[in-house]
Amino acid sequence: MKQKLLMLAALSTFALGCSAVGDLAVLDDSLGLSPVSVFDNPAPKAFEYRDLDPKVAGILPRSWEDAPPQIPHRAEKYMPVNAKMNKCLECHDEPGKIGKKEKGKPTPMSETHYVKSDKGELGISNKRYVCTLCHAPQVDVAPIMANTF
Ligand code: HEC
Ligand code: HEC
Repeated sequence: MKQKLLMLAALSTFALGCSAVGDLAVLDDSLGLSPVSVFDNPAPKAFEYRDLDPKVAGILPRSWEDAPPQIPHRAEKYMPVNAKMNKCLECHDEPGKIGKKEKGKPTPMSETHYVKSDKGELGISNKRYVCTLCHAPQVDVAPIMANTF
């Protein structure tokens, strides 16, 4: 008998709980960040990466001081970056010109990208070899959600 009573109590609590959840139901179009139903699967607008030649691409604004600058020019042609091939270095590895920027000419990588040998020569640091870990090509697309960053 005691057990039966307990069961009844548990059942009625469950039923109460259900009706409370029903009252607080969240609509499926207010669950996600996007203002559509979470059951919809809207296709994002197609976009294309900049296909500008490095000579005319200029540079892009940096989000904060010391942020890795975004790649302003086409990058697809210079991929992949791997142990055998690094096209980025062919243009940006100019240890003799560090800090000297010239419009239309490849910006020399900064000193942070190098290690000094015993003889004082600068060589690319292994930590900076894979450029695309930190530098990304950009697409002109508005953010899906506005932000104040
Ligand atoms: C054919 C030469 C060339 C190659 C290859 C190249 N770049 Fe560039 N890069 C440039 C030039 C030229 C600029 C633009 C400089 C300007 O107009 O101020 C530039 C600009 C940049 C900038 C912006 C620098 C800044 O001060 O904002 C980054 C970052 C960059 N390149 C990264 C890369 C990466 C990563 C790769 C490889 C995937 C690469 N580049 C391959 C020539 C090249
Ligand atoms: C671990 C992250 C990282 C990697 C990998 C990396 N960079 Fe950078 N890069 C940065 C940051 C952060 C800055 C801005 C601060 C600075 O100059 O150190 C920068 C700055 C630059 C600049 C602008 C220099 C200036 O004087 O304004 C160029 C050009 C550049 N990187 C090219 C490259 C290339 C080419 C490679 C690959 C060989 C590469 N980076 C690899 C993080 C990285």
